[in-house]
Amino acid sequence: MTITTLRQRLLALEAEPPKAWRVTGAHARPNLHGLLRYPAMMVPCMQGDIIDVILDHKPGACRVLDPFVGSGTVMTEALVRDLDFTGVDINPLAALVCEAKAAIDAGADVEGAAQIVLSTLRRDVCESIEVEFPGRAKWFDDESAVKFSTLRRAIIQVGDKGARKVMWTVFAETVRLCSNSRTSTYKLHIRALGDRVGADRVLQTFETNLRQSLMRVREYRALIDARGDKRPSVRIICDDARKAALDWPETDHQLLVTSPPYGDNQTTIPYGQFSYLAMRWIPQEDLPGAGTYKLMANTNALDSVSLGGTVRGAEEKEACVRAASPHFDAFVREAERTDRKRAVRKVSSFISDFTDALTHMRASSSGTAHWVLTTGNRTAAGLTVPFDAICKDIVAGLGGKPIAALRRELPSKRMPSRNSQGVMITTETTTVVEFS
Ligand SMILES: C[S@@+](CC[C@H](N)C(=O)[O-])C[C@H]1O[C@@H](n2cnc3c(N)ncnc32)[C@H](O)[C@@H]1O
Repeated sequence: MTITTLRQRLLALEAEPPKAWRVTGAHARPNLHGLLRYPAMMVPCMQGDIIDVILDHKPGACRVLDPFVGSGTVMTEALVRDLDFTGVDINPLAALVCEAKAAIDAGADVEGAAQIVLSTLRRDVCESIEVEFPGRAKWFDDESAVKFSTLRRAIIQVGDKGARKVMWTVFAETVRLCSNSRTSTYKLHIRALGDRVGADRVLQTFETNLRQSLMRVREYRALIDARGDKRPSVRIICDDARKAALDWPETDHQLLVTSPPYGDNQTTIPYGQFSYLAMRWIPQEDLPGAGTYKLMANTNALDSVSLGGTVRGAEEKEACVRAASPHFDAFVREAERTDRKRAVRKVSSFISDFTDALTHMRASSSGTAHWVLTTGNRTAAGLTVPFDAICKDIVAGLGGKPIAALRRELPSKRMPSRNSQGVMITTETTTVVEFS
């Protein structure tokens, strides 16, 4: 397939998006995609369709990289296509969920683990609280904490590490649904008294989640049933994408498919706050990554080490990125007319960190590669940050040739795109680039 045909096929997808791209709710997240509701998840079938078109163009491609892997949407789409996969995320909970999905793919005995957990739950009459952390009583009253402790003790009984990670994923979804933090926002935000979930519902919610998860595992296994003996290889790295890229071999991946954060976590989507409560319950040894305890020191620790987490050195960073991106330069010139200096510094810092990450990715994949980047344009300092255009500038500076940009209206109910200023991101752009 020539590059022109590739472009035409991608643009045809944009002109007439398959119906499945517009499905919302539970049906939009089949099989492993629905194990945990993580912020800003991608539309799985859209990423899968784009991967298929690129594979038709480049049949030899075999390893996919997602440097901001989140809950592993791209990973699942890669694995069902028997493609090897590398995923990176700075968030230990995200990496744990990906490891759980990899364990399912590798055939971990999830049903056996569920039996162990359920039978331990039935026998356990202990009323102690197993973990304490600042604010524990605010987010989990004593009665709920006793129930979560019972769940924690039961999961620890599962000997197989991979299957246990699947149980922690079900646990994390139960924390999301039953803690005193609202489910309508990803920030830690206390529920109104009348909206709290009673302690008597914790175990029941876990068991319901577990049953649904087992169905999802079966659905996934049916998809990979015809695979044969050779399994794709999976590597999940819990680290800063800028550092992780230094470690893997050159020409390691032929396809990079990702949706980076839209801006710094504090003012866009606080992935760290979203993950904090579940991570506090999961034993350190089951959470991926080194120094995870530092990332849980407080509710903001993880968000402040994510891309754009610090404004230190923002001025110098800004100058470099302005030189590399005419669209960023135009944004800063416009923003300088406002008095929202801190907001502009946050954007500069984020764009600079993101540029670093992409530069490292490119350095580690010096051969032919295709990149698929899904971005949204947030608002900062009262202005739209043209992240899609900035991203294209950065990639062009690295030698990438833009092939197509697919714009997609987001269904209005898609909450993850709401940023701290209450502004909805209404469209997202998927940019496809070729490095030759
Ligand atoms: C838009 S989300 C990815 C969501 C994912 N596509 C999915 O469907 O679940 C962006 C991810 O980037 C991660 N992230 C932020 N800063 C990072 C960094 N410096 N290195 C690696 N990952 C980072 C966040 O933890 C978050 O999981």
